[in-house]
Amino acid sequence: MNQIKENFLIDSETIFLNHGSYGACPRPVFEEYQKWQRMLEIQPVRFQTETVYSALKDSRVALGEFVGCEEGELLFFQNPTTAISNVIYNLELKSEDEILMTDHEYGALVRAWNALGRRTGANIIQQNIPTNLVTEEDFINAFWKGVTEKTKVIFISQITSPTALIFPIKKIIKRAKEKGILTIVDGAHVPGQLDLKINDLGCDFYTGALHKWLCAPKGTSFLFVKKEHHSWMKPVIYSWGKNGDDPGPTEFLQDFQWQGTRDMSSFLTIPKAIEFYHECIKPLQEKCRQINLEAYSKFQVALGTSPLSEGAGWIGQMVSHPLPIDMPEDLKKILLDDHKIEIPIFEWKGLNLIRISIQIYNTKKDVESLMSALASLN
Ligand SMILES: Cc1ncc(COP(=O)(O)O)c(C=O)c1O
Repeated sequence: MNQIKENFLIDSETIFLNHGSYGACPRPVFEEYQKWQRMLEIQPVRFQTETVYSALKDSRVALGEFVGCEEGELLFFQNPTTAISNVIYNLELKSEDEILMTDHEYGALVRAWNALGRRTGANIIQQNIPTNLVTEEDFINAFWKGVTEKTKVIFISQITSPTALIFPIKKIIKRAKEKGILTIVDGAHVPGQLDLKINDLGCDFYTGALHKWLCAPKGTSFLFVKKEHHSWMKPVIYSWGKNGDDPGPTEFLQDFQWQGTRDMSSFLTIPKAIEFYHECIKPLQEKCRQINLEAYSKFQVALGTSPLSEGAGWIGQMVSHPLPIDMPEDLKKILLDDHKIEIPIFEWKGLNLIRISIQIYNTKKDVESLMSALASLN
């Protein structure tokens, strides 16, 4: 019996190696979530017009401390794509302007940027970042080749979705700032996986999903907006804003926070998720990284393909690896149906990738089960 896994709601029979997609919520965090939902239902009017605002502030304060920024710079969104779409909506671009990103970005957000490109004529450039990079400088040089006098915005993942690489973005942000280029960071996989100090990074905008590695309930994400941009950031969808019940303190917050009758319970659960992280996840994180590093080398043996990164510095609790071309087309289904292994398999730039995630409920045995299942098919 895996006692840590017992603490999560996830099906105990499934070898769950896909924490990266939607996370998994631990029982105490989920109970806190339901506590808020019950409170809302017991007295909906008082809850939505009074209680919710001080509870939201508690969540912003706890999150600000956790991600390293002021609480007044944080907005809650259900997912990173919605958060970044709201930034995209506010950008005023001309047809000759350029938006620079890597070719490892998250597909839904690439779509959102391309839609902006079609609307404004701005060029969306996906800079090629080779997968055999060794040093931080290699990465910066490869990316910076894409910067021109027309670059207005840099959009970059701190941990990438398809390739699961940790990109060293701090120097990119510094250089961008010197050139007056706006920086927008996609940190969907970062909170709860890497230590995060947004103000130290110095970016203009940062989004993170809290339901992934922080294990908050689903639909819990945030957008950091540096103070100097508050005056021009407006919501895509207007609600009551300063004419509503939200006591503020800023018009910026009032404009975004209240969105009709949405259930904010998942946002109110953030302090509990942070508490769970400090007590239960953080002490075991190094062990997770070690298991992931082992998976990184075992993939090379089991699959015989070249890894996407050179060495440990590029990976945290996830690793993506190319599958050989002769793997069955329905590999994902075979792994789930015949081996009870839940793991994502997808195409990226002509490669067929498999991505493993290691959270505290995973064990070395899970990785071994995957490797022997793969070896039996190869
Ligand atoms: C790098 C990255 N960005 C953004 C997202 C946002 O996901 P959503 O579709 O929930 O907005 C994800 C989700 O997996 C991701 O991996």
